Amino acid sequence: MPDPIGVVVCGPHGRMGSETVLAVEHDAALQLAGVVSRRAEATFGVGARSVPASNDLASLLDATHPACVVDFTTAEAALQHGRIALGRGVAFVTGTTGLGLEDLVVLRELADGHRVGCLVAPNFAIGAVLATHFATLAAKHFAWAEVIELHHERKADAPSGTALATARAMVAARGAPFEETEVTKQTLPGTRGGEVDGVHVHSVRLPGFVAHQEILFGGQGEVLTIRHDSTHRNSFMPGVLLAIKHAVAQPGFVFGLGPLLGV
Ligand SMILES: NC(=O)c1ccc[n+]([C@@H]2O[C@H](COP(=O)([O-])OP(=O)(O)OC[C@H]3O[C@@H](n4cnc5c(N)ncnc54)[C@H](OP(=O)(O)O)[C@@H]3O)[C@@H](O)[C@H]2O)c1
Repeated sequence: MPDPIGVVVCGPHGRMGSETVLAVEHDAALQLAGVVSRRAEATFGVGARSVPASNDLASLLDATHPACVVDFTTAEAALQHGRIALGRGVAFVTGTTGLGLEDLVVLRELADGHRVGCLVAPNFAIGAVLATHFATLAAKHFAWAEVIELHHERKADAPSGTALATARAMVAARGAPFEETEVTKQTLPGTRGGEVDGVHVHSVRLPGFVAHQEILFGGQGEVLTIRHDSTHRNSFMPGVLLAIKHAVAQPGFVFGLGPLLGV
């Protein structure tokens, strides 16, 4: 059996980072090599063993020689971690949201320049990626659509990156803006939500939700609803593991899980 793929996780105490640590540990093909944490700790306990911990990714890479760095932190830290990992020829995977177009260009150039794999995915849930794909198929047949996304109360940004990307992909697939009603009397401002070329986008923030999205298409006498629910953060982990294995095996930059799923 080949040696397990060494993985460094940035943000191991966070909601996504801690799930990633568990997922890596439970996959026989992978092994946690270390963690990047802002906390003053030299080691990080995982099961019965402990791995090196540091707040300095560069020195951790030099000490542990992993094949891949996975980041779930903040956009600023993710870009910094991507620069360091790719610059040293180490594959980089991040699901951290908030990276701008110019940040993606930097990561792409580094991945290409160093001939190393890099995958940035705003959503690692396989069902969510498929739901967006199905929405692009439906968008060619319906002229009216709205998106409702529902998340936990601690989510800071609205709408979700997935909702925005879904609405944009639907408009691109349709090749024209969607139709919409002009509400002439809006008694509560903002009630119609945000708008992407005729697709109204609504954000719900409540405790009890994890990450959910409904895409509604209206037609003559019919409504098509495409719904995806992440009921636990472990829903993102099959996608994260797939991304790690892809980035380690395949040099170059990939945005989103779609190409790995054939959609
Ligand atoms: N792509 C997807 O499928 C997906 C799914 C869910 C969430 N996300 C995104 O993933 C990111 C993390 O979400 P989360 O819910 O896990 O957030 P979280 O619970 O707040 O965790 C973020 C972690 O990042 C750490 N961190 C922040 N800055 C750092 C730095 N400079 N160096 C090292 N660690 C740093 C924090 O450390 P401390 O513990 O020391 O504060 C914290 O543990 C967000 O951008 C979120 O939108 C993506």
